[in-house]
Amino acid sequence: MDSTLAALLDDTWRGLVRAAADRRHPWRTPVLATVAADGAPNARTVVLRAADPATRTLRLHSDRRSAKAAELARDPRVTLVFWDPRARVQLRLRGRAEVLHEGPEHARAWAATPAAARRDYATRLPPGTPIAAPEDVAHGDGAAHFAVIRVRVMTIDRLALAAEGHLRAGFAWEGDEPRATWLVP
Ligand SMILES: Cc1cc2nc3c(=O)[nH]c(=O)nc-3n(C[C@H](O)[C@H](O)[C@H](O)COP(=O)(O)O)c2cc1C
Repeated sequence: MDSTLAALLDDTWRGLVRAAADRRHPWRTPVLATVAADGAPNARTVVLRAADPATRTLRLHSDRRSAKAAELARDPRVTLVFWDPRARVQLRLRGRAEVLHEGPEHARAWAATPAAARRDYATRLPPGTPIAAPEDVAHGDGAAHFAVIRVRVMTIDRLALAAEGHLRAGFAWEGDEPRATWLVP
């Protein structure tokens, strides 16, 4: 791989790792796009909880009863879009998601989830259920609803905006080695 492309890829993963640890990093809250049952796209903001360049995986958390979890069970293909307005860099990551309801990764993630955040998974009714009034939300135990979404990254499209010329690069994995190329912005 061209050394500049290799440096860009390293920089991209470093940014994702930093974003997962830093609440103020703009890449901390990407948009996750999925395919709905009717074939239409669906998208929502999520929090990036972890990024691991060695395994090319990202970790997200959600409620296993959510629409996104059902969509991923049907079709694991996802796109995640990140935008950093200071660095002026957009990332579009495509990958395959796995929804975990148990196992060591799930247990570790739940153990590290603070009490206030656990409440997000503790609604008695599934997320998205119509209710008559906002106060009609009853809470129980969140553990049974907590899910880890693990995304294995298959392609990265990185666009950096600059007055002197935008820079776009693509990376794709078939085996362990990425194919990298410059792209017309
Ligand atoms: C800043 C922000 C961060 C969010 N983070 C998450 C998250 O990490 N996991 C999650 O399931 N929903 C998160 N949400 C809520 C989702 O955007 C969405 O409203 C909810 O998960 C229902 O989506 P669904 O019906 O497509 O499953 C977040 C929303 C905002 C505005």
